[in-house]
Amino acid sequence: METEIKEIEIIFFAEIKEINSLQDLEKLRIKYLGRKGILDGLFSQLSHIESSQRPLLGKMLNELKEKILKEIKEKENLWAGDKELAGIDLSLPGLYFVIGKKHILTQTIEEVLAIFEKLGFTILEGPEIETEYYNFTSLNIPQEHPATEAFHTFYLEGEISSGERRPRSAPGKGRYLLRSQTSTVQVRVMENYLPPLRIISPGRVYRPDAVDASHSFMFHQIEGFAVDENIKFSDLKGTIFVFAQRFFGKEIKMRFRPHYFPFTEPSVEVDISCIICQRNQKPETSNQKCGVCKGKGWLEILGAGMIHPRVFHFAGYPKHKYTGFAFGMGVERMAMLKYGIEDIRLFFENDLRFLRQF
Ligand code: DAH
Repeated sequence: METEIKEIEIIFFAEIKEINSLQDLEKLRIKYLGRKGILDGLFSQLSHIESSQRPLLGKMLNELKEKILKEIKEKENLWAGDKELAGIDLSLPGLYFVIGKKHILTQTIEEVLAIFEKLGFTILEGPEIETEYYNFTSLNIPQEHPATEAFHTFYLEGEISSGERRPRSAPGKGRYLLRSQTSTVQVRVMENYLPPLRIISPGRVYRPDAVDASHSFMFHQIEGFAVDENIKFSDLKGTIFVFAQRFFGKEIKMRFRPHYFPFTEPSVEVDISCIICQRNQKPETSNQKCGVCKGKGWLEILGAGMIHPRVFHFAGYPKHKYTGFAFGMGVERMAMLKYGIEDIRLFFENDLRFLRQF
């Protein structure tokens, strides 16, 4: 009987392979599993078998029954699926899934950071809620000085409590504020690390500006700085030029204009040749005014300079030992220049028609 069971199994699997309709499948099921079917017949033979063999053969039969049932069910399910499909119009458009992506500002930040990381810079971030000390004092901006004006910000209620860890050179009690520049990271980093330093630091900054096409009360900056013995102005120039070429394109030209920042000396503003004029193949001096550079042919991309010795003093670094350069750029500005975006509000309105373009 054992061989018989094995043969039946082989025959069943051969037969089911040939079946290609539900009706035939049902016939096959009855043939094997129905009352008076093949398996039923075998089960009834069991009683005539020697009792010592019965358990083994019984087990074999039950296993075969399970196998046959499973096989038939599987085939049935397969065809049932086809039956359902029969009622569906396959030419209808499919379901629309929205695939998310990174905001253009995030993309811009990541692109800038990647360029500086390749140049050996390390990413470090500072807090958005800052103290007057790091936002002003440590950057050589005396509180009552008119230079503070450019970095006006939002203040939080209440004073820094006396229990707060206060940097050694911050006299008196200060207030908390929302930082108005990412330059705040300079002394924060220098207090904790010794040169050589190459740091790049992205983040949000806040200024109480009325919102218009080029102002927002919140925007993003990326601060960078390098400190070591013997860092020179030419290092700043080379670094910024490599960055500008990688970000805006190899063709750009760059120029430095003298400027004033309290935390750098000398200080500069850096311009690149207008990429929009270049794209339109117009000479920079063309009479037809370009909307982006306003016909000037140059675009300001960032502020920079050699770190002021007072900043090193606030960091607690020894006198005259180190030099360094620093720079700060606006992320929205970089994206606006690169893609010819004319209104800063577009970044924050969450209009997908705008955001999907990037
Ligand atoms: N913090 C400046 C601002 O918000 C930008 C800046 C200028 C940063 C010159 C620097 C720098 O590190 O050297 O306008």
